[in-house]
Amino acid sequence: MRLIVIAVLVCFIAGFECRELKEAFTWSRISYAGLGSTESRNGYQQEGASSSSTFLFPESGNDQNNFGGSYIYENNIPMGANRWKDKLFVTVPRRRVGVPSTLNFVWMNSTERHNVPLIPYPNWRINQFDPTREPDNFVSIYRTAVDACDRLWMVDTGLIETPGNNTRVLPARIIIIDLNTDKVIRQYTLKPSDVVPHSTLANLAVDVTANTCDRAFLYIPDLSGYGLVVYDFHENDSWRVRHNFFFVESLHGDFNVGGQRFHWNDGVFSVALSGVNPDGFRTMYFHSMAGVHIFSVSTRVVRDRGLATRSNHESDFKIAAERAGGSQTSASDLHQPSGVLFLSLVNQNAIGCWNVNNNARSENFDIIHKDDQKLIYPCDLKVYQDEVIVLSNTMPVFLFARLNYDETNFRVWISKVSDAVRDTSCAAMHRKPAGRY
Ligand SMILES: *[C@@H]1O[C@H](CO)[C@@H](O)[C@H](O)[C@H]1NC(C)=O
Ligand SMILES: *[C@@H]1O[C@H](CO)[C@@H](O)[C@H](O)[C@H]1NC(C)=O
Ligand SMILES: *[C@@H]1O[C@H](CO)[C@@H](O)[C@H](O)[C@H]1NC(C)=O
Repeated sequence: MRLIVIAVLVCFIAGFECRELKEAFTWSRISYAGLGSTESRNGYQQEGASSSSTFLFPESGNDQNNFGGSYIYENNIPMGANRWKDKLFVTVPRRRVGVPSTLNFVWMNSTERHNVPLIPYPNWRINQFDPTREPDNFVSIYRTAVDACDRLWMVDTGLIETPGNNTRVLPARIIIIDLNTDKVIRQYTLKPSDVVPHSTLANLAVDVTANTCDRAFLYIPDLSGYGLVVYDFHENDSWRVRHNFFFVESLHGDFNVGGQRFHWNDGVFSVALSGVNPDGFRTMYFHSMAGVHIFSVSTRVVRDRGLATRSNHESDFKIAAERAGGSQTSASDLHQPSGVLFLSLVNQNAIGCWNVNNNARSENFDIIHKDDQKLIYPCDLKVYQDEVIVLSNTMPVFLFARLNYDETNFRVWISKVSDAVRDTSCAAMHRKPAGRY
């Protein structure tokens, strides 16, 4: 308590930006508990020894004949971060060889904060990739969603992505884990009609309340196939939604990040859900990565297979906001109690916000944190309860130049939502003027 009081005083006296995001964990290179260096073995024993032995790597964990199981630290780039209670999940998709485990976590209470080894979740065996693999094993996971029913949702892309040689191991499938038992409770392979040959299913959002756990819907944006896949948990069925708003905005494909200039054509990248509206449905906000608009649609439309797959959506899809050039956004998420939509502004090394209860004038789009050295390529952003969690991973430097693995490259930032938006236009709710024009 006294510490908090002192911290608040320091904020006032020294004029520090207390609203900024705080670095919770940092890595210069990713290692895994129980694999590789002596430090990580020790790290494993300190961090995980008290929990069950299912987190152990097998004796042959560094088998060089096993291209997924071998460990090449340069190829381990974390892409997703999310939280459930005392676990911080960190995903490492298999975009190169040498990724030993794709779904992992670290303990939030870890006393180490730098280069903490990742612990495979729910165990090492299911994360191992090898050619004689068990059929249930995870192939490659980009990001995760945590729902109000203590479940962890993810899409296993089924794809080993090595440059110039993508290998499809399995069709893409949805995996759901019960976080209280650490058991996979459902696997659902997407239908051929849900995807296109060049689909990329790198993000997801779950639509459910704690009282309706069996009535969940999962929304999966397809950033390179330019569509949205919907999974109905109760019916155990899925469909694909098509709309021009899911495409790349052709004038906004230029990026300049971490000293790299490049052109991307990523379409719909993430979806963020409002709280439940009076009609019982949510508003889904979405945007293309190469784009500046934010669009919206009611989940009433996408949850109804008939409505969702109509060829003419009439005016059901709306423009929620048109932002300035340079506001290209990767991940986004919405804090439902306050209406704050957080936006990862990859071209600005910044996290932005907009309170969706405010009108979409430019002064209502604010920056909560910007750092041209440390916040390069905010790649995932999740709201967990009243916290915002950001992962930045310097990825364009990895893709187009070389990372220096002796410097800090990967960071997970965590802040309370109320701290993050303090003194921004997102903190105050300005009612939309009704019926003026
Ligand atoms: C962190 O939390 C986990 C699970 O609650 C516990 O097993 C572990 O001992 C804790 N570690 C430390 C360093 O407090
Ligand atoms: C492509 O990758 C697979 C394993 O994913 C490997 O067996 C194959 O030899 C590779 N092909 C080329 C041309 O590199
Ligand atoms: C869901 O459907 C798939 C096939 O589409 C099936 O393999 C699986 O068993 C079903 N799961 C449940 C819980 O009904």
